[in-house]
Amino acid sequence: MVTLPGGVAMPVVGFGTWRLRGREGYQALSAALDAGYRHIDTATMYGNESVVGQALADSGIPRDEVFLTTKLPSGKAGQERATLAQSLRALGTDHVDLWLVHWPPSGRKLASVWREFLAARDEGRARAVGVSNYSLEQIDRLTEATGQAPAVNQIPWSPSRHDPALLAGHRERGVTVEGYSPLKGTNLSHPVLTELARAHDVTPAQVVLRWHIEHSIVVIPKSSHEDRIRSNIEVSGFTLARDEVARIEGMSRR
Ligand SMILES: NC(=O)c1ccc[n+]([C@@H]2O[C@H](COP(=O)([O-])OP(=O)(O)OC[C@H]3O[C@@H](n4cnc5c(N)ncnc54)[C@H](OP(=O)(O)O)[C@@H]3O)[C@@H](O)[C@H]2O)c1
Repeated sequence: MVTLPGGVAMPVVGFGTWRLRGREGYQALSAALDAGYRHIDTATMYGNESVVGQALADSGIPRDEVFLTTKLPSGKAGQERATLAQSLRALGTDHVDLWLVHWPPSGRKLASVWREFLAARDEGRARAVGVSNYSLEQIDRLTEATGQAPAVNQIPWSPSRHDPALLAGHRERGVTVEGYSPLKGTNLSHPVLTELARAHDVTPAQVVLRWHIEHSIVVIPKSSHEDRIRSNIEVSGFTLARDEVARIEGMSRR
């Protein structure tokens, strides 16, 4: 778990749902909940909020045991309230745990959308609010306009994209980094990963996901295969030593 402002606990491994729709999506979500995921990442743009809501309802898992994230498309700037209401209806809940602005809207909308997000949080429709695909400069503009920084910035992250200065910049501002596309952006056959996987008796994907956790970066792998769904969350049975973390960083493009 990482703790967001306001004491909101966020599981450090979540289930990504981009491109999981219809029957395949429902099966993958049911498998994820069964495998122990208690954090689901969806978005208005993914067109699968009702599938998430159905799988959650059918699982019988109490709503307050699952951390639910959804996102506002920047094209819906100005329609924040109605868009969130639609998300909540589809998800079958009266609040989400985290509501993100999916991409930064242009110009003055940057601050006006953020004010609507803070209002949604204050009214209890989202326990925490944050952004996605924002630069540090854009985050600073939100803080300057409202005095409140986003709880989370969801951005692409993987060993080859590792950027210590960007991570430190988020830490200084009290913003949790949530990394997306952790596996897609990674060569899972890279010799560093295959060697560490053998040494720990895990898969290269598990090494990559564990590496995010060693940095306290929230990670949200997606899979439509039950075996991968299960193994991607089994990352608490081993740790990576400091030199192993550094070797993985050696894969970085920077
Ligand atoms: N905020 C944003 O703008 C944004 C953008 C992109 C993504 N996201 C979020 O982040 C989540 C994750 O990112 P992502 O879906 O782009 O990529 P990802 O989770 O890094 O990678 C998914 C791909 O990796 C494969 N995979 C999964 N587990 C594997 C394993 N153990 N071994 C080998 N291959 C494996 C999947 O294939 P199979 O399905 O065939 O297993 C799929 O092709 C998304 O689902 C979404 O929720 C957010």
